[in-house]
Amino acid sequence: MKKCLICSNEFNPFVDFGSMPIANAFSTKKELENEYFFPMQVGFCETCKMVQLLEQPDREKMFHDSYAFFSSTSNYMINHFKKFANSVSSLQNLSKKSFVVEIGSNDGIMLQNFVSDNIPCLGVEPSKNVAHVAMERGIEVTTEFFDRPLAEKISRTHQKADAILSANVMCHIPYMHSIFEGVKALLKNDGVFIFEDPYLGEIIEKTSFDQIYDEHVFLFSALSVSHIVKKHDLELINVEPQITHGGSMRYTIAHNGVKKVSENVLSLIGKEKQMRLDKKEAYMDFTDNVNKIKKDLIELLTKLKSDGKKVVAYGATSKSTTVTNYFGISPDLIECIYDTTPIKQNKYSPGAHIPVLPYDQFRDSDPDYVLLFAWNHAEEIMKKESDYMGNDRRWITYIPNVTVI
Ligand code: SAH
Ligand code: TYD
Repeated sequence: MKKCLICSNEFNPFVDFGSMPIANAFSTKKELENEYFFPMQVGFCETCKMVQLLEQPDREKMFHDSYAFFSSTSNYMINHFKKFANSVSSLQNLSKKSFVVEIGSNDGIMLQNFVSDNIPCLGVEPSKNVAHVAMERGIEVTTEFFDRPLAEKISRTHQKADAILSANVMCHIPYMHSIFEGVKALLKNDGVFIFEDPYLGEIIEKTSFDQIYDEHVFLFSALSVSHIVKKHDLELINVEPQITHGGSMRYTIAHNGVKKVSENVLSLIGKEKQMRLDKKEAYMDFTDNVNKIKKDLIELLTKLKSDGKKVVAYGATSKSTTVTNYFGISPDLIECIYDTTPIKQNKYSPGAHIPVLPYDQFRDSDPDYVLLFAWNHAEEIMKKESDYMGNDRRWITYIPNVTVI
């Protein structure tokens, strides 16, 4: 039994992935000697409806000055954040007098749009190497972890915010009450807090189990978000589905009673209840569904190996750490992973120790099959590689089920 991070009630796990390394710890041979593992189990709290990891490594083990995830590796995501920033500007009527704060601003993929529109903004980004890329783009960044004391400091040193934004970060933070206390303190009376994260409904529907790894301590739904914001005298006023990261949800939050609540909110909560995401039964089949993908993928990879086929992977994602470690995929089954991120290249994948090679070498590798670990970027990647992949070379994907394309 574990205590819920939100409401302290006790609950049991519904899926156990066993021992897992830090998902973004792409390492040299020497660094692998001290590889860190933690037990990764996920549970559902029936009281506050939050799906969560039972244990999470210390934040400094995950977010530091050699953080391996750089947001701007996808052109689709660059465009997505441009549209996100523009929509916030219109919603809040932002001007030179406004103030925008982003939690987890990474390399500045979102805030660069406010800088070019002369809208004052501040990034909060504890991983110093990625924060420095944003600073070089002319963005002001504080390299601390966002929490209530930092929010109070920002409202003193800067001003209260018209908009606080966050993408793929809230689900990383276990101390949620401190975050919402900080948001409450930092937000202007008519301000909005908008965040988006991989959506629980999509994860359950597609069995996208690889969204579960050390960093993702929470899998949010409208049910769980509306529950926690109420505790902080805030209100969920809109929800908008996004196709990013395999299916995300954007949540807009305001001070309680200040803004009109969109019909989308009640409608999504109704849909979630229909899916029974408020009951533990909804999660019962998850392990079986994951194990079906595991069986099918391992059978396919084993057969390809015995047929003498060359299989490589594409995209050294954090998600792939869950896939390779839970499925037991070693360099025996997948020769290497190609990736465009310099800090990941010529290193070994966490736990499974599959070599990560520079993307530039992909075109010379002449594989028979390419396992797409970055399946959430399938459209962008398949288009980019369409002249190289073809009848002789096939993609393998595994969400929602194992498919050869
Ligand atoms: N927003 C970007 C980055 C997501 S990766 C995008 O969507 O692409 C998650 C980021 O959150 C990392 O850069 C990490 O350093 C940062 N982070 C983790 N905990 C944080 C906290 N408490 N406050 C602010 N940023 C945090
Ligand atoms: P992503 O799926 O966004 O993240 P996560 O780590 O959250 O699972 O990661 C995409 C990875 O794929 C990243 O390491 C960069 C790489 N990549 C390429 O190598 N080529 C590409 O064309 C794209 C879009 C991504």
